Amino acid sequence: MWGGRFAEGPAAIMREINASIPFDKRLWRQDIAGSRAHATMLGAQGIVAEGDVAAILGGLDAVEADYAANGVDEDLALEDIHMATESRLADKIGAAAGRLHTARSRNDQVATDFRLWVRDAIDSVEAGLKALQVALVTRAGEQAEAVMPGFTHLQVAQPVTMGHHLMAYYEMIARDRDRFAAARKRLNRCPLGAAALAGTGFPIDRQATATALGFDSPTDNSLDSVSDRDFALDYLMAAAQASLHLSRLAEEIVIWASQPYGFVTLPDAYSTGSSIMPQKRNPDAAELVRGHSGRITGCLVALMVTMKGLPLAYSKDMQDDKPPLFEAHDLLALSIAAMTGMIETIGFRADRMRGAAEAGYSTATDLADWLVRVADIPFREAHHITGTIVRMAEREGVALGKLPLEAMTAVDPRIDDRIFSALSVDASVAARASHGGTAPSEVRKRVAQARAALEMA
Ligand code: ARG
Repeated sequence: MWGGRFAEGPAAIMREINASIPFDKRLWRQDIAGSRAHATMLGAQGIVAEGDVAAILGGLDAVEADYAANGVDEDLALEDIHMATESRLADKIGAAAGRLHTARSRNDQVATDFRLWVRDAIDSVEAGLKALQVALVTRAGEQAEAVMPGFTHLQVAQPVTMGHHLMAYYEMIARDRDRFAAARKRLNRCPLGAAALAGTGFPIDRQATATALGFDSPTDNSLDSVSDRDFALDYLMAAAQASLHLSRLAEEIVIWASQPYGFVTLPDAYSTGSSIMPQKRNPDAAELVRGHSGRITGCLVALMVTMKGLPLAYSKDMQDDKPPLFEAHDLLALSIAAMTGMIETIGFRADRMRGAAEAGYSTATDLADWLVRVADIPFREAHHITGTIVRMAEREGVALGKLPLEAMTAVDPRIDDRIFSALSVDASVAARASHGGTAPSEVRKRVAQARAALEMA
C-alpha cells in the first residue's frame, strides 16, 4: 500500500513487529461501517464518481459477507485490518477500490473504528451491569429481613441485613453505569476526516459521516482527533472501577462461603472440587473475578503509560492501544456474567448469619443507646457500663440477650427488664430506620425504588 517509495520489502521481523492484524481484526465490522460512510460521503460531495461509489459499496458488502462467513485472514504482509479490507475490496472490484482512501488516512480511520468498537463495548457492559443489578435487587428483596453481622475491621460491629448488604453493591454498580454512560457521551464524536493529522483539501462533509456512523458531531481539531485515546482510557478507568467493585463482592463471597463463616453456599454450577481433597467445594469463579480485576487495572495502567509521553499527532505506539482494551473488555464481560450467575443462585444460610450476629455482641451499641434513651445516662458513661456487661457475657460465654437481668443490674441498677427488647438483633436492625439505614422497612423502600429504576415488573 505504501511500496512506491521503497526499493526493498520489509524484513520478516519488521513485518512481525509492525503488524496489528492478529488483534485488530476484531475491528472488521467497524472498519466496514466507517468505509461505507466515507464512500457514500465522497459520492455525495462529487469527490468520487457515483459509479465507483456504487462499486465500492457493493464490494464492501461482499467483503463483509466473507468476513462474517470465514473470519479475517491474519496476513502479516497486509499489516492491519484497514489494509486487509482494502486489499480484499480490490480483489472484488478492481481499480475503483483505490478511490476509497481519498481524503482519508489510516490515522483517522483507526481512530474512528476504535471509537465505534469501544462504543459497542460500553453498550454491552451497560446491559451486563444492569442484569447484575436486577439480580442484586431481586435477592436483596428476598433477604430484606435476614439478619447478619455488619463488620468494621472485619470484626462484628452491628447487625445489618443481607438485603442491605446486597443493596450496597447495587449502589456501586449504579455509579459504574453512570461512569460508562459519561464515557460514552464524551466518546461519541467522529474523528473521520481529520485525515493523517492536518485535515484535507478535498471538500468533504464531516457532519455527514459523523451522522451516518451515529456520532453526535465531528471532532473539532484534526491533530487531537488522530492522537486522542481518552475514550479508550475512559473505558478502562470505568472498567477498572467496576471490576474493583466486583472484586470486593467476590472477596466477600469467598469469605462467606468458608466453613467458619458458612453464611452462603454456592451451587454446584459455580463451584469446583479438588483433585485430592474429596470434601472440597471451592469458590473459583469468585476468586477469578477477584483476580481478573487486577488484570483489568493492569490494562488501564498499560495504556496510560503508553500514551503519556507521545508527542502529537499519531505515533505507532498507539497501535498498542487495542490489546489492553480488548483484554480488559473480555475479562470484564466474563466477570460481570459470572458474578450475575453467582448472585442469582447463591444460597443464604439465615441461621448461620443470625448466629454470628448474636455471638459477636453486635447489639452492644443498642444496649448503650438504651441506657441513654431510657435511663438518661450520658453516652460516654453508657459506653463504659456496656463494655463491662460485654466483658461479663464474654466470660460466661453467652449472648448479651441471654445474660440474667440480675447480672446486668449488678453492673448498673438503672437497668430493668425492658432492656431485653433492645438486645435482640431484629430489634436492632428494625431501629435503624434513618434514611439509608439497615432497617427492613428502609431496605424495602430502596429495593422498590431500584426496581422502578430498572423497570422490573
Ligand atoms: N494499525 C494502525 C493502528 O492500529 C493503523 C494506523 C496506522 N497509521 C500509520 N500511519 N501507520 O494504529
